[in-house]
Amino acid sequence: MKYLVTGGAGFIGSNFIYLLLDERPGSQVVCVDSLTYAANIHTLNAAFNNPRFTFYKEDIRNRKGIFEIFSKEKPDVVINFAAQSHVDRSIEDPGIFLETNILGTQVMMDACREYGVKRFHQVSTDEVYGDLPLDRPDLLFSEDTPICTSSPYSASKAAADLIALAYYRTYGLPVSISRCSNNYGPYQFPEKLIPLMINNALNGKPLPVYGDGLNVRDWLYVKDHCLGILAVIENGKAGEVYNLGGHNEKTNIEIVRIILHYLNKSESLITFVKDRKGHDRRYAINPEKAGRELNWSPTTKFDDGIKLTIDWYISNMTWMNECTGGEYVNYYNEMYGNRG
Ligand code: NAD
Ligand code: DAU
Repeated sequence: MKYLVTGGAGFIGSNFIYLLLDERPGSQVVCVDSLTYAANIHTLNAAFNNPRFTFYKEDIRNRKGIFEIFSKEKPDVVINFAAQSHVDRSIEDPGIFLETNILGTQVMMDACREYGVKRFHQVSTDEVYGDLPLDRPDLLFSEDTPICTSSPYSASKAAADLIALAYYRTYGLPVSISRCSNNYGPYQFPEKLIPLMINNALNGKPLPVYGDGLNVRDWLYVKDHCLGILAVIENGKAGEVYNLGGHNEKTNIEIVRIILHYLNKSESLITFVKDRKGHDRRYAINPEKAGRELNWSPTTKFDDGIKLTIDWYISNMTWMNECTGGEYVNYYNEMYGNRG
């Protein structure tokens, strides 16, 4: 089996590549990534030592380049992780989100049609459902919850999902979609909540919590997400959507306190800053369909996963410093400089 993974130099895509190389020993893995700011090529160091791994630096928006890769590699299965993935950046500059997440996905599906790929899997997000109120803990997102997006990022992901389903119905392209909640774990770029807070705490810098810190996210360890995607590809039906999540809701301020406590740092580092525009209040996934049809459920408890994650960043400060050098300094100053 030959898998083509886009966005494999980023957070979840790289974890997925390592899962494939470990758990599908006969497989070939081709990674396509344009190496944006969110990628760190050193994330793939161990994969480059594996003869079953091939890497192409290419942009999913480049139709000619993508078709050439398909012509050469003839993948059986394509998993599309490549995306602009950070909500805050989408609020500052939506255009690149629409181009990458919508038109890039279309290029990938056109290549899959042309080369008869057996499954195109679109990695999507719970953010396509919008948000839930804090005072209704009984409400969860199911696959039938209406699409109701808030940010340019989530709107672009929802558009890609709808186009993928249109390609299934119109052209019979064997498409599947997974919609997952917030991931945490190794190799996450430190502009996202958990690695940003770990990095700042380790460096004794203020921890910027948006608004009142009471927004809720449903956290899932990245390996559990990757196992869920594999289950959808191998046992899920074409034309279907599967929600992946862990019933692990936490407020942002809880997360920040857990990190500070584990690192033995003072809560005086917590700084409440101006809220995100259009900030979704609560996400919560109902993953029953994936449990029932795919026998998938998360295995990593949050208490264990967060320790593994913090320990990983402590042991990989060189990787972290590669991410936070150069352009990151400008990004951080622009996003947080006048936020206080
Ligand atoms: P990430 O930002 O860490 O990585 C994205 C990768 O895609 C990077 O390596 C980047 O270089 C690459 N990329 C971006 N634009 C590209 C282009 N035009 N061509 C080729 N490569 C390009 O993202 P992530 O957190 O790993 O998310 C991966 C996918 O999972 C995304 O589609 C995201 O919407 C989805 N998702 C993420 C989460 C989460 O919590 N992080 C949760 C649910 C779904
Ligand atoms: O739900 C899945 C989504 O989770 C994915 O589709 C996105 O790609 C991924 O980035 C993530 O989106 P969020 O916006 O939830 O993640 P982020 O880490 O940016 O923020 C998590 C919460 O923490 C959110 O409520 C905003 C808050 N926050 C974030 C940052 C970076 C802060 O309070 N301070 C911060 O500095």
